[in-house]
Amino acid sequence: MLQTRIRIGLGAVCLMVAILAGAGVAVSHGGATGVVKERMDAMKDMGGRMKAMAAMVRGRTPFDAASAKEAADAIAAHARDVPRLFPKGSRHGPSEAIEKIWIEWPQFVAEAKALEDRADVLGRQTVTAKSGADLGRAFGDIGRSCKSCHGRYREKK
Ligand code: HEC
Repeated sequence: MLQTRIRIGLGAVCLMVAILAGAGVAVSHGGATGVVKERMDAMKDMGGRMKAMAAMVRGRTPFDAASAKEAADAIAAHARDVPRLFPKGSRHGPSEAIEKIWIEWPQFVAEAKALEDRADVLGRQTVTAKSGADLGRAFGDIGRSCKSCHGRYREKK
């Protein structure tokens, strides 16, 4: 019963991640320049890493603690970089960033910090994890961070 609920939760997160990761690929972002391009690339990198980690969590690819740790570290580093990647008013070109980011700057930065903390948690868990499934909960938390920030601060197209 509990097992089933965890599975369903995980399935939803994985689906969400697939959508997240796909978004960057499906939409052509030709025309993005400067810091907007830089942060789109960073976000896309996180999307790719989440996709790879989702496959591991679901047992579709073999569990590899070192590469899970590397992915977690990369996500944490991108999260730390978020304040620098969103200078005030940078919404040019195909950007989907919304003005609310700068109106609610402390909350926006807190979303990034939450992601960093959750990626750190997963990174630490790779030391003791015996399988991808052992990282499921921490992975789900990371996915919820992506979703939470997008829900508040990314334009819905
Ligand atoms: C602190 C807020 C925040 C967090 C946390 C966050 N994102 Fe984003 N993300 C954004 C914003 C804002 C945009 C739109 C940026 C733009 O278009 O200028 C975006 C855009 C994206 C894009 C589209 C990039 C493109 O090419 O247009 C992808 C993919 C993405 N995020 C994936 C992720 C994933 C995966 C995570 C979690 C590991 C994540 N994001 C966490 C705020 C966040």
